Amino acid sequence: MNIAFFSTQKYEQPFFEQSITGQGSVSITYLEQSLNQNTAILAKDFDAICVFVNDTVDDAVIKQLASFGIKTILLRCAGFNNVDLPAAKANSMNVLRVPAYSPEAVAEHCIALMLTLSRKTHKAYNRVREDNFDLNGLLGFNLHSKTVGIIGCGKIGLALCNILNGFGANVLVCDPYAQPGNYTITDLDSLLTKSDIISLHCPLTDQTHHLINDEAFNKMKPGVMLINTSRGALLNSKACINALKTKKLGYLGLDVYEQESELFFKNHSDEINQDDIFSRLVSFKNVLVTGHQGFFTQEALTEIANTTIQNALEVCESKPLTNEVL
Ligand code: NAI
Repeated sequence: MNIAFFSTQKYEQPFFEQSITGQGSVSITYLEQSLNQNTAILAKDFDAICVFVNDTVDDAVIKQLASFGIKTILLRCAGFNNVDLPAAKANSMNVLRVPAYSPEAVAEHCIALMLTLSRKTHKAYNRVREDNFDLNGLLGFNLHSKTVGIIGCGKIGLALCNILNGFGANVLVCDPYAQPGNYTITDLDSLLTKSDIISLHCPLTDQTHHLINDEAFNKMKPGVMLINTSRGALLNSKACINALKTKKLGYLGLDVYEQESELFFKNHSDEINQDDIFSRLVSFKNVLVTGHQGFFTQEALTEIANTTIQNALEVCESKPLTNEVL
């Protein structure tokens, strides 16, 4: 199976090279381009494509891929909101993903965002380098005894609950499929009303698109902390800006952004940022943005590479497909 890898980054290659060692039936061509209608032509002559979170696998792209005889779409991520599944089905394509590579990697990144926002270690780092040991402006708050609301308690949400229990936080969970655990299950309204910190861990669907909007902010406590490491479009960014301006939103930690495909995973430092909403968001002192790095640990990359190659081998060997989305 010859696989065209779209949106490849240098840091991924050693992990994939390691996982195909000894697997003669799979070969990889690493492409820097992201997949869209203009670049789909690059997949001609390949048997399969492998994509990441910001590649576009819509109906038009799928039709092009099908015309090249491609039958397999390998996602080297968990989320599959960027794939038009009905179109893939209509073209008899297998869509496989990496359902869980390291929920702890993302959960630990949430904690990093929460603690950085609260304890301002990023500001302290810069001050101390300038021999400035003034503590004014660095006042934080304890996670202990705070109420943390988790929207979506799947693998990552659950890993976060476990860590937060260690901090002595009161954890509220809202998830239509929540199982009893070391947290209180509640509905969305009550979670929004009671939480000091809210963290989003549900997938992006038609139902969850802009789940956090003006109406949701109105229900929240003044000065609430909001963390989004799930998918950018769960938040209405304009509503966030309004809530930051009125101080309803006291802290915002983002690892994802609605228009991130134009920005993330690339160095734009020589360019003028044309995204006024993003520029406004990062101008607030109480907003911390990381560029979709929640998953970015050695352990997670090892698991992503191994599972993706395992998925490809199952297709090659006509075995039952463990991680099929369709
Ligand atoms: P999961 O599928 O294990 O859990 C998602 C949970 O959300 C499920 O329990 C589901 O019942 C719940 N859910 C669905 N609709 C809901 C709603 N309307 N309200 C409340 N809960 C709802 O997924 P997992 O592995 O925990 O990942 C969660 C999300 O994190 C993914 O969809 C992906 O978008 C994102 N992610 C981000 C990464 C990063 O690097 N920042 C890395 C990996 C995943």
